[in-house]
Amino acid sequence: MDTQRVHRDIYRDPEVFIAEMDRIFARSWVYVAHESEVREAGDYKTTRIGTQPVIVNRDRQGVLRVMLNRCRHRAASVCQLRSGNATSFRCQYHGWTYDASGDLVGLPFPEGYQHRDRDELGLVQAARVESYRGLVFASLAPDVPSLEDHLKGARHYIDRFMDHLPGHQLEVADQAHRMVFNGNWKLQMENGVDGYHANFTHQSFFALMQQATGQQSRYISSKEEAESDGPTSAHLGNGHGLLDQSQAASGVLRQRLRTLQDAPPDNADLADFFGVPDGEALYAATSGPGFNVSVFPNLQLIGIQIREIQPVAVDRTEVIIRPMLGTGAPTAINRLRLRYHEMFYGIGGFGQPDDMEMFRRVDAGLDATDDEWLWLDRGSRRERPGAEEGQRVGHITDETPQRGQYAHYRKLMSAEGGE
Ligand code: FES
Ligand SMILES: [Fe+2]
Repeated sequence: MDTQRVHRDIYRDPEVFIAEMDRIFARSWVYVAHESEVREAGDYKTTRIGTQPVIVNRDRQGVLRVMLNRCRHRAASVCQLRSGNATSFRCQYHGWTYDASGDLVGLPFPEGYQHRDRDELGLVQAARVESYRGLVFASLAPDVPSLEDHLKGARHYIDRFMDHLPGHQLEVADQAHRMVFNGNWKLQMENGVDGYHANFTHQSFFALMQQATGQQSRYISSKEEAESDGPTSAHLGNGHGLLDQSQAASGVLRQRLRTLQDAPPDNADLADFFGVPDGEALYAATSGPGFNVSVFPNLQLIGIQIREIQPVAVDRTEVIIRPMLGTGAPTAINRLRLRYHEMFYGIGGFGQPDDMEMFRRVDAGLDATDDEWLWLDRGSRRERPGAEEGQRVGHITDETPQRGQYAHYRKLMSAEGGE
């Protein structure tokens, strides 16, 4: 595999999938939660690192922990719910009980265990847990670089995402959109920073915008725009990607806001709130900072959302989308954020379901074994080095982020010790 093209086996071979779970997901930083999901002592959520089930929680001292959701006796999962608050986790099978720090505190009929040291039977903890701007990452392997080093150039965009609602922190909304598609997890990682597909995959969305506003609606509206060398896609290092739509596609992003029923006819109150007399602040506050950033291997920040990509099997993937609301922000703003988000990314939205259909079609096409390669070479001759070492910058429709993703992927998959 070079990075101009990838072999079909990386989307279809179960052995490649098993190797990915080991060499990527079990040996590098993986996104597990936003801190607002586990705000108070005892708050927990269950999720997965690759295919391994974990509990993310805050113990009684307020320490963030990530522990395997697996009883140390005979492997039953000890926590069954997606989220909640608990001071302990009791395995229902034979009653072993762990406190919120993962220590074994209850062992029924302990006389039979005189030969075992209870201190060694706590839940298995992730080797490293660190947060950046509220995003919690864990590594099952101890020998990884610091989280900041891992995030590299993505940090700048994470900062801008977290700061896009002036005067307010962000917190996840109560409920998530959960979607499953029959296809490989990397298809979604590629697509979140793919500026080439929108005009075509999302054709019906643009037709709808056109109908609603009476104005032409396209993601890329001219041949010149499509062929210019505007630096709007990038590889940010370590497989992380950027699709900056704030210039090229701002027209259609704004159109979307204007079609919402809840959008105020004039923005007086909101403008007062932001101290800006025009709709600019309202636009940013409701639709996000205008770029998509992808943090390899399983996180994307798109619009106002945090998106987790969870591999289930080589040809099955779960996508969990959590809109972010402003803590204490006016209801009008948070409501608009949700409406704007749902319109494209919701389960009944006009965008995300189209992407998932394309993933299914790629998976269907991969049945053709006589054509083995998928091409990611668009713009490879016009991309150029970015500001920092290891970065590459390309046109919005180029496959620069995807090539960066696979350069890093290849490094991890061929390395002995991971990152
Ligand atoms: S499997 Fe958990 S107590 Fe036996
Ligand atoms: Fe899309």
